[in-house]
Amino acid sequence: MSKTPITVARGDGIGPEIMDATLKILDAAGAELDIEEIEIGKAVYERGIPNGIEPSAWESLERTKVFLKAPITTPQGGGFKSLNVTIRKQCSLYANVRPCVAYAPFVKTNFPDMDLVIVRENEEDLYGGIEYRQSQDVMASLKLISRPGCERIIRYAFEYARANGRKKVTCMSKDNIMKIADGLFHKVFDEIAAEYTDIENEHMIIDIGTAKVAAHPEMFDVIVTLNLYGDIISDVAAEVTGSVGLGGSSNIGENFAMFEAVHGSAPDIAGKGIANPSGLLLGAIQMLVHIGQGEVAAKIHNAWLKTIEDGIHTGDIYREETSKQKVGTDEFCAAVLERLGQVPSSFTPADYSKAPAGGIKLPPLKTIEPDEKKRVGVDIGLNWDGNADDLAGLMHDCLQPDQNLKLQMISNRGTKVWPNGNPGTFCADNWRLRFLAEDETQEIRTSQVLALMGNMNEAGFNFTKSVMLHSFNGKPGYTVAQGE
Ligand code: NAI
Repeated sequence: MSKTPITVARGDGIGPEIMDATLKILDAAGAELDIEEIEIGKAVYERGIPNGIEPSAWESLERTKVFLKAPITTPQGGGFKSLNVTIRKQCSLYANVRPCVAYAPFVKTNFPDMDLVIVRENEEDLYGGIEYRQSQDVMASLKLISRPGCERIIRYAFEYARANGRKKVTCMSKDNIMKIADGLFHKVFDEIAAEYTDIENEHMIIDIGTAKVAAHPEMFDVIVTLNLYGDIISDVAAEVTGSVGLGGSSNIGENFAMFEAVHGSAPDIAGKGIANPSGLLLGAIQMLVHIGQGEVAAKIHNAWLKTIEDGIHTGDIYREETSKQKVGTDEFCAAVLERLGQVPSSFTPADYSKAPAGGIKLPPLKTIEPDEKKRVGVDIGLNWDGNADDLAGLMHDCLQPDQNLKLQMISNRGTKVWPNGNPGTFCADNWRLRFLAEDETQEIRTSQVLALMGNMNEAGFNFTKSVMLHSFNGKPGYTVAQGE
C-alpha cells in the first residue's frame, strides 16, 4: 500500500502528549502514513498571527488535504480568530461527523445501548455571520440554506450510514416554523432518502428530537441536521454518553478533511502524563477509514475497545466499581499496543470492510430543472415611531396608480399589525411593509419599486432593509406574516 500524506499538529496543553500516544499506535498498527508536521495554536497566535496558523502551514494542508489535529488553546481576549472556523471555511468542510457511543458497563452511563452518529451541516444556516442591527431596538441574523448544501450533507449522511453498516437516518429540522429554509432541508431529505431503499429514514422536529436524544438515545442511529441544531444536539448527545473525553470528530469537505478529539487542550492537566488519548485516537480511526485504510482502523479500534473492556482506564473515566487499573497516558497507550490484533468480547468488534476504498465520494449534485421565477412585490423595512394605521395612511400618498403596487400588509417583528391588527400587539421601532402587485398577471419592474421608494424617501421615511418578493412556478417564495 502506498503511503498517504497527512498533516499533523500537536497543538497545545495535553495536545502533544495525546498526539504522541496516537501516532505510536497508528505506526505500530501498520498505518501507511507520510506525516508532515505543522505548528498551530497558542505560540502562533502569540507571534501575532490572528488566526493561529502560519501561511507555510497552509501549504502543507493544501498538499496533503488530510489533517489530524490535536486540541489548541484559544487565547483569551479580542482580536483572535477561531482556528477551527478558519479551517472549516477555507477548506469548505461541509460535514461535521460525531459518533456518540456509550461504553457500558465499563464506562458509567445512564444509556448503555447508545450508539449514534451526528452528521451536522457545517457551512450554512445562521453561521454565515450575516447579522444586522436594523434599528435602535431590533437585531437580525440571517439563516441561509441552499439546495446544494442540503443535498450534499444529506447524501453524505446516507453514504456514511451505508459505509458504516448503519440502518437508519433521522433528519431533524424545524420545518413547522421555518417552512421555506428548514422546509427545503426536509424536502431534500425525502428526495435523497427515496434513493436509499436499504436504509430506514424518518423525520423529527428538532425540539422533540433533542428531547428524545437526551431521554432515549438508543432510538437513534445516524442523525442529520442543520448547523445550529447540530451544534447543540451534538453536545447534548456527547454529554449523554457519559464520556465527553472519549469523543472523536471529523470535518469533511469535498477535497479536504480534518480529524480531531471533541475535547479541548485541558491546560489543567497538561504535562502531568494523565490525559486520555482516546478522543484523538478515535478521531484518527475515522481518518484511517476516510483515507481507505479501514483494516488498520478496525485493528486499532478493536484493540482500544479491548483495553476499555479490560478495565484499563485513565483517571477521567476511572471508577472503582467499573475499572481495574488506573493508568496514565503512556501506560494506556502501551495497553492498546499490547492488544493490537485482539478483538473485544463484550463490545461488538469494529468492522470497516464496507467502507469504500479512498473514502466516501459523493456523486455530482442532481440536475434540477429551474423554476419559473417572477417578481411579485417587495418587503420594505422602515424605522418608525408611530402606529400601524398612521403608517398605512401615509403609504397611500406614496403609491401612484402606474406603479402596479398595493400595500398588502404591515408587520412588526413578524406579526401582522395592519390591516385589522390587534391593538395589544407590542410594536418595536422597526416595521416591515409588504407591497404586492395590484395586477397579479403583471411582473413588478425594479423601476416601479424604486419609484415607490423614491416617494417614501421624499416623504422622509427611514429605510432599514428591503427584500424583493418572487414567486416560483406560481408559488410564493416568501411566507405570510403571523396572523395574516
Ligand atoms: P477542555 O475539554 O479542554 O477541558 C474540560 C475538562 O475536561 C477539564 O477538566 C479537562 O482536564 C478534562 N479533559 C479534557 N480532555 C481530557 C482528556 N483527554 N483526558 C482527561 N481529561 C480531559 O475544555 P476547556 O477547559 O473549556 O478548554 C480548554 C482550552 O481548550 C480552551 O482554550 C478552549 O478554547 C480550547 N478548546 C479547543 C478545542 C479544539 O482545539 N478543538 C475544543 C474545545 C476547547
